Amino acid sequence: MSDASGRAEVDVDLRGFADFTANPYPYYEKLRAAGPVHTVRTEEFERVWLVVGYDEARATLADPRFAKDWRGLPGAPAESDPIFLNMLELDAPHHTRLRKLVAREFTARRVEALRPRVQQITDELLDAMVPAGRADLVEALAFPLPMTVICELIGVPDLDRGAFRRLSRGVITPASPEQEFEAVRAMNEYLRELIEDKRCSPGEDLMSALVRTRDEEGDGLSPDELVGMAFLLLVAGHETTVNLIANGVRALLDHPGQLAALLDDPELIGGAVEEMLRYDGPVENATFRYPREQVEIGQRVIPAGAPVLVSLAGADRDRGRYPEPDTFDIRRDAQGHLAFGHGVHFCVGAPLARLEGRIAIRTLLERCPSLAPDAAAGELDWIPGMLMRGVRGLPVRW
Ligand code: HEM
Repeated sequence: MSDASGRAEVDVDLRGFADFTANPYPYYEKLRAAGPVHTVRTEEFERVWLVVGYDEARATLADPRFAKDWRGLPGAPAESDPIFLNMLELDAPHHTRLRKLVAREFTARRVEALRPRVQQITDELLDAMVPAGRADLVEALAFPLPMTVICELIGVPDLDRGAFRRLSRGVITPASPEQEFEAVRAMNEYLRELIEDKRCSPGEDLMSALVRTRDEEGDGLSPDELVGMAFLLLVAGHETTVNLIANGVRALLDHPGQLAALLDDPELIGGAVEEMLRYDGPVENATFRYPREQVEIGQRVIPAGAPVLVSLAGADRDRGRYPEPDTFDIRRDAQGHLAFGHGVHFCVGAPLARLEGRIAIRTLLERCPSLAPDAAAGELDWIPGMLMRGVRGLPVRW
């Protein structure tokens, strides 16, 4: 349907809310109160479906009638860059095959073996940070910890990390289509060189193993599949965990009673991190899904091929699922939150992210028990768009 100006009609135009990026939760609540499923207009899209109810969100994420692979859908570009043809954007059987190849590297047991190294990196970063008495927590800890861990795991040389971060930002949250195009091109070039390096001089790292690996049929990963995998692991491995640490610390600083409880009993860290993921998780909305056929959810009929966003942030504040959902309570049972998604695309890196989040925040509080916001630093700079939720910097003092 279109209005008089020829634009598609939507239930709500989210662009009208100036503070939506800084605090989308009251808007998600209003939407939920009106129903679990809506059409919205966003900064990037004229009309998308947005699922905000917990039950409907969970059901959509696990529903095989929704495809991730957009190729062949009406209006979809025929070609897509290989970096986007990674397992998160593919369906069975391609998704199943690719996921099997990496899932074994990220089991709880394999990840537990990384504990001493994650602790050591955290300690070194805090050794450098603590004497100053104030810092940007994102620069000093939340970014370099997951970035170093995922680079070591995958085998990205030390020197390239700053450059990689700029590229990653350009692809995930580009300032313009031109910047995105250039970042995608440069990212491809960078990853192809990295993979060629691993082919010529393999190491003990995950990328070297993936270059060598063969599936049950004896097939290896094609050059495009390797690029897609490297891109997904590197970007998913750091863009998200940085926001778990920064959003989690921000929630503690906004709730001094909860901060005091965690300082008092550091053993609460496991549950506290789950509550941080539920209350203000790093991924605001899951990546797009497209119904293969007309689908009815929440008494709304979504036509085949229409883009659908599942609001993880909206679902995890649904009062039908969590009592007093806007209360940050590190002792609550936050189980069942959707911060890592649900269904076949459930986050492969969840055990690693949990390990990093727990070690980072627990050690930070041990070293800086008087941690407080650095009010002198001014307004927070929010990451634009509806995919990632977080701040570019978090000024703190102690
Ligand atoms: C707190 C940190 C993290 C959060 C909140 C998070 C969240 C998510 C979510 C919501 C999805 C599903 C997206 C969708 O269905 O549209 C996902 C998928 C994925 N994540 Fe994470 N993630 C985190 C950390 C990591 C890390 C450290 C890795 C590193 C290896 C990783 C690797 C992946 C991969 C490979 C997928 C795609 C899985 C598939 O398609 O089967 N993530 N993540």
